[in-house]
Amino acid sequence: MKIPYNKLVRDRIPEIIRSTGQQPVTRVLNQGDYQAALLKKLAEEAREARQAPVEELPAELADVLEVLRAIANAHGLAWDQVVATAVRSGPTEEPSTAGSSLNTSKNFPAASTLAAPAWQPKPVAAERGRERGCCGGSRQRRARAARPERQSAKRRDMTEEQLDGGNTGGAVRAGNTVRRAAGPWTPQVHALLAHLTEGGFTGAPRPLGFDEQGREVLTFLEGETVGSRKPWPAWVHADDTLDQVARWMRAYHRAVADFVPPPGAVWRGKGTWSPGLIIGHNDTGPYNAAWHHGTLAGFFDWDFAGPATPEWDLAYAAFSWVPLHARHVVAAEGFTGFAARPRRLHQLLRTYGWTGTMAEFLQVIQERVKVHADGIRDLAAAGHQAFEQLLRQGAVDDLDQALAELATFPR
Ligand SMILES: Nc1ncnc2c1ncn2[C@@H]1O[C@H](COP(=O)(O)OP(=O)(O)OP(=O)(O)O)[C@@H](O)[C@H]1O
Ligand SMILES: [Mg+2]
Repeated sequence: MKIPYNKLVRDRIPEIIRSTGQQPVTRVLNQGDYQAALLKKLAEEAREARQAPVEELPAELADVLEVLRAIANAHGLAWDQVVATAVRSGPTEEPSTAGSSLNTSKNFPAASTLAAPAWQPKPVAAERGRERGCCGGSRQRRARAARPERQSAKRRDMTEEQLDGGNTGGAVRAGNTVRRAAGPWTPQVHALLAHLTEGGFTGAPRPLGFDEQGREVLTFLEGETVGSRKPWPAWVHADDTLDQVARWMRAYHRAVADFVPPPGAVWRGKGTWSPGLIIGHNDTGPYNAAWHHGTLAGFFDWDFAGPATPEWDLAYAAFSWVPLHARHVVAAEGFTGFAARPRRLHQLLRTYGWTGTMAEFLQVIQERVKVHADGIRDLAAAGHQAFEQLLRQGAVDDLDQALAELATFPR
């Protein structure tokens, strides 16, 4: 949002401004502000459509549609679902008086023919928006919402399912959204995820703001996850998966290269961004991956995103996926091909496009593992229960063991 003009971010305007050497001032909106901004936008676009000469009407209506899609998206609703609802209930519930009302089922193109919205607004109102938000204005619609089947559909939407996996807080699913505890770092993480969305990067959840409980809301990444299972499913250790992880890392590092964090941004893993660094995911382990029909759909759990070099971020991926953790740890996860590890590390680096030597990269991995162990110790010492538990369960001892083994890894 550009404060002086009070405008929602559209297209790649911040990047365009930056390319002229100027620094745009943007602000991630909170739930209420964002809801209000979207509604204002809808009213603006509708006014423009009303005033447009007939030859400009298609373009103006397309803008209205774009905002409607954004509102649905912001509430975690699939557009298909909105169109299906309009098709199902529109004509019988809202009989058109010739010339005075729109028959939505005829006037909306099929969902599959709609182009993707050209802009992705940043934060969103979640549940509250669904209750009293933008689209429930007409009397007919309110009457429809009171019908028993609508109410039960609504209740179904709101049902929360605890998702399997996660040590530090976990996540629940509600409809097509995921809810997770937020922290001081979450607005920055959402700015990052919004940047990825705006750039067309699909290997990460889209940020949908915060719900009325203050939890972050994100899109659900479709696919299989490792969850709490041990050993891990076979796809985790397949050779082809290594290539997919390397390609994801490469694509992510490209997508994030032009992301400039908001000034004063705080990150859970600490550190301050400066030109030359990226914001790494920093936790791209199999336990944060979604695997869909033989393809790595992407990574969730961006809590530890923060300033890093690309190789620092890649080092954690290598440690997790080659895998290079202590032998007893990876054996319990189902990995037994120890002799293949140097070859697998080489494969990951080659696919990613790393141009240094194995010895240099192993050095980065060792540093990265040390920082990981220190991070768990620090967070446990600061009284974070989940990290105290990790410490008690021997996670830091395991990392020390991994470091001892890495010291003799062929280079
Ligand atoms: N955006 C998402 N899309 C799909 N599934 C998700 C998403 N976010 C979380 N999950 C699911 O929820 C589970 C727990 O989530 P998450 O990794 O965010 O928890 P956590 O406690 O922060 O984990 P960690 O122990 O890695 O810190 C995951 O194993 C995954 O199954
Ligand atoms: Mg996780």
